Amino acid sequence: MALQQPHGGRLVSRFSNASLDGMFAVEVSNDLRSDIENIADGIFSPLEGFVGQDDFDSIVKTGRLKSGLAWTVPIVLDLDEQAAKNARQAGEVALATAGEKFASLKIEEAYTFDRLASARAVYGTDDLNHPGVAKMSNMKSHLVAGRIEVSKRIPQGQIRKYRKTPKETREEMAQRGWKTVVGFQTRNVPHVAHEMLQKAALNLYDGLFVNPLIGKKKQGDFKDEVILSAYETLINNYYPKNRAMFVTLHTEMRYAGPKEAIHHAIMRKNFGCTHFIVGRDHAGVGSYYHPFASHEIFKNYPDLEIQPVFFPAFYYCKKCLSYANERNCPHGPEVREELSGTKMRRMVSSGEMPAEHLMRPEVSRLIVSFKEPFVS
Ligand code: ADX
Repeated sequence: MALQQPHGGRLVSRFSNASLDGMFAVEVSNDLRSDIENIADGIFSPLEGFVGQDDFDSIVKTGRLKSGLAWTVPIVLDLDEQAAKNARQAGEVALATAGEKFASLKIEEAYTFDRLASARAVYGTDDLNHPGVAKMSNMKSHLVAGRIEVSKRIPQGQIRKYRKTPKETREEMAQRGWKTVVGFQTRNVPHVAHEMLQKAALNLYDGLFVNPLIGKKKQGDFKDEVILSAYETLINNYYPKNRAMFVTLHTEMRYAGPKEAIHHAIMRKNFGCTHFIVGRDHAGVGSYYHPFASHEIFKNYPDLEIQPVFFPAFYYCKKCLSYANERNCPHGPEVREELSGTKMRRMVSSGEMPAEHLMRPEVSRLIVSFKEPFVS
């Protein structure tokens, strides 16, 4: 048994063999289908479906479910008024992508919500240039709540070949004898500062859970297949096999900064992690969040049960000839090479190969071998 308890104490599992034939079908996006499977596998434990109004209001107002349990990002299904009415009348509906029914939803309630007020609460802004706010402002008027049951999984395929369920990751962690496991979230191809954060944490804990987020991202971010291959290459060449586990998490980036940092930590807790890395501008976008807002928010969640591992900004110091940060290096900005996903994206798109101390050459070569590495 892994040492970490799932969020809320019990790992959710929502699968069924019941036939969906003849059921009224509601079409959902592929991204939502991925999250529905995440609910079924317990990645979003304790959620068993789409949240109801009491939970929604409580998440927005307090960053917790109405039970008081930490939860910061509402998981919802939005429908227009007529579809919500039809769904309510049907009582139970099938969820489908491209006409293929894959899950059922028992409708418990349908409610309306204030898009901009909710956006302000989750994203800290109602600026429509923020990708999360833009998405929320385009949501349909009604949210339908209820428990789901999945009948058909998404085919594993190339992009999902490293996906694992919390049940599987917990078993693997136990088999490896890991008592402490530190989780690492990323939405980027790995630069050396990312690697140094993970290895600094690896000095302290039994295992490292490398868990890139694969799924919908904003224009200009690296494509999923590039992130996947880049990490595959990095891990094969630079990580000790018995200390690192590579698993992908298939959900969308929300760019909610601090609120998303809590959400990210909860998902990794469900996978069995005891610790979670939070560095500079975690889950940030543009300059909407203070670079360390995602550290600060953890003060409000002493009950989270997964320990955040905070890191300051790592940079390459030309005097120390190593990665450093303000806690351990006295040198000024003139000898620092700052690293960020944005900087790497800029280099790659201008055809510049990053230097070896910024990005591993195997990783750089792989990225430039892609004709179009960015989401368009
Ligand atoms: S994120 O949206 O998933 O947070 P990214 O993949 O760039 O973006 O970051 C993954 C993790 O590494 C986050 O915890 C982030 O704070 C941290 N991080 C990225 N670059 C640095 C850096 N130069 N110094 C410190 N932490 C960093």
